[in-house]
Amino acid sequence: MPTLAALADAYLWLKAVHIVAVVAWMAGLLYLPRLFVYHAGIDPTSEASALFKVMERRLLRAIMNPAMIATWLLGCLMVLAEPGWLRDGWFHAKLAMVIAMTGMHMGMARWRRDFERNANARSGRFYRIANEVPTVLLIGVVILVVLKPF
Ligand code: HEM
Repeated sequence: MPTLAALADAYLWLKAVHIVAVVAWMAGLLYLPRLFVYHAGIDPTSEASALFKVMERRLLRAIMNPAMIATWLLGCLMVLAEPGWLRDGWFHAKLAMVIAMTGMHMGMARWRRDFERNANARSGRFYRIANEVPTVLLIGVVILVVLKPF
């Protein structure tokens, strides 16, 4: 386990890698619902549906899951190095939004399994609306963490 002093020395590296992980996670959170929008409109037994299933599975397992874990891990290591953040209102609000983002991630994982089992019952319109949620959360999180307004 790195010492707190070592974490403090590496703080900017932790933040840099944190932001890289955030970008990868966000790319998936914005792209996966887009695939669902088109997947919802086609015959579940078609060749195109089989291709969508492969794309959705790989996006979630190879990119989104590791990126989400890295975002949380590096975020928590920065809090370990700088525990004063835990007292700040901006951090509480940010954490609430990030927990909502993680909830969206879990929802997308469940929707993907439904498609895999040809059991999707939601419309393309539902996924279009779902696609907006991570966007709004992203805007809120970045404003909170960069401006630290309260
Ligand atoms: C998952 C849980 C997360 C935790 C515990 C966390 C925690 C932190 C902490 C402690 C910092 C350093 C703040 C500073 O030194 O000024 C930070 C920076 C940052 N975080 Fe997170 N974060 C998390 C998720 C996210 C997510 C999901 C996003 C974006 C969608 C995000 C975007 C950023 C950005 C842009 C910075 C750099 C801010 C700056 O340099 O001023 N974080 N995060």
